[in-house]
Amino acid sequence: MSLPAGHRVVVREYGETPLDALDRHMGLEPQPAPEPATLAPDEVLLRVRACAVGWVDLLMASGQYQHMAPPPYTPGLEFAGEVAAVGAQVTTVRPGDRVLADGMRTGPRSKGRHQRWGGFATWAIIPAAAALPLPSTLSYDQAVNLLGNFETAYHGLIQRARLRPGETILIHGASGSTGLAAVQLARHLGATVIATGRSPEKLAALQALGAHHVLNTADPEGGVRRFRDEVKALTDGQGADAVWDGVGGPITVESLRALRFGGRLCIIGWAATPFVARGKGQRGAPNANQLPTNLIQMKGLDVLGCPAIIATLHDHSLRPTRLRWIMDAVQRRDLVPHAGPAYALADFAEALRAKWRSEHLGGCVLHP
Ligand SMILES: NC(=O)c1ccc[n+]([C@@H]2O[C@H](COP(=O)([O-])OP(=O)(O)OC[C@H]3O[C@@H](n4cnc5c(N)ncnc54)[C@H](OP(=O)(O)O)[C@@H]3O)[C@@H](O)[C@H]2O)c1
Repeated sequence: MSLPAGHRVVVREYGETPLDALDRHMGLEPQPAPEPATLAPDEVLLRVRACAVGWVDLLMASGQYQHMAPPPYTPGLEFAGEVAAVGAQVTTVRPGDRVLADGMRTGPRSKGRHQRWGGFATWAIIPAAAALPLPSTLSYDQAVNLLGNFETAYHGLIQRARLRPGETILIHGASGSTGLAAVQLARHLGATVIATGRSPEKLAALQALGAHHVLNTADPEGGVRRFRDEVKALTDGQGADAVWDGVGGPITVESLRALRFGGRLCIIGWAATPFVARGKGQRGAPNANQLPTNLIQMKGLDVLGCPAIIATLHDHSLRPTRLRWIMDAVQRRDLVPHAGPAYALADFAEALRAKWRSEHLGGCVLHP
């Protein structure tokens, strides 16, 4: 069997920043089709149909993410496609099957021999253990927006915040990939959602997608305006029960003021302060966000770190429950991943720049 050649994006070395990596160290290269006869017994050759364009892909290319994929590697943490060939011992999938690659077990976010095979490529070799059957309810574009986003939402809202029906949660970065999943999941759990953002258009879309209330937190100077009183007005003067914070910086401090006594602050990420860590793969975070302990103490707040992947590496019981719950929920159509616009693989730089600038609700995908 002879398979057609394609293309792949390669990160040749880490940049100082994600945009530096994009401008100087990342490019599209021809990709010969892997020869099926050379697959290891446990390997699967995937013809990639869609790959999510992730914030983490950007951070990783500058070595500012906590997990390093040694260059040269192909970015693309979450991808899906058709099985083109399987190794001699693979019995779980067959050529022609629609498969979702589990980004914790293959690609740049994994460790070991499949780390360099990301989804920004025509072809990817993955271990059979990473080949998840694609739920019949999902398109390829939706599938690549499923696990990273909803696993993060499940970890933050259920495994950490223990969000209950009737509670009110303030969700920052609600228009982003993980924030959108959090809005859906929080609603599904019976919570009242106050979604925040900087764009009136995206906030209107969030309301149409189910957020109960929306708040524009941008001030005219480009910073963050005070919103505590508006949150209090929406919560009978009490403040929110929980905050999902995917934005970081000044919004976090104002969030402490907007929480009720005994509320929970879920630290998800810091999209507003991406340069907390050094570039080019150096370790250390000299510009890390800092929190005022007086507010945490006087309000009896719980500050919860919510690293979805790292937590599962410490507690192996977390992921099986989470994966089963999410897969069941999408089969029932209780959760529907949002897929943004699609770009051709050759336009990967444009897609990554759009992600960096938060141009699209929930992000975008590549079609190799
Ligand atoms: N805890 C975990 O396990 C986990 C998992 C995945 C990602 N993360 C982290 O979570 C954060 C969000 O990830 P994501 O994939 O959802 O990113 P994303 O899709 O880029 O969304 C981030 C959202 O934050 C808002 N934002 C961006 N820059 C901002 C700024 N300067 N000021 C205020 N708001 C800003 C934008 O919303 P508006 O344009 O509407 O304001 C944007 O839609 C990142 O830091 C990421 O590393 C954590």
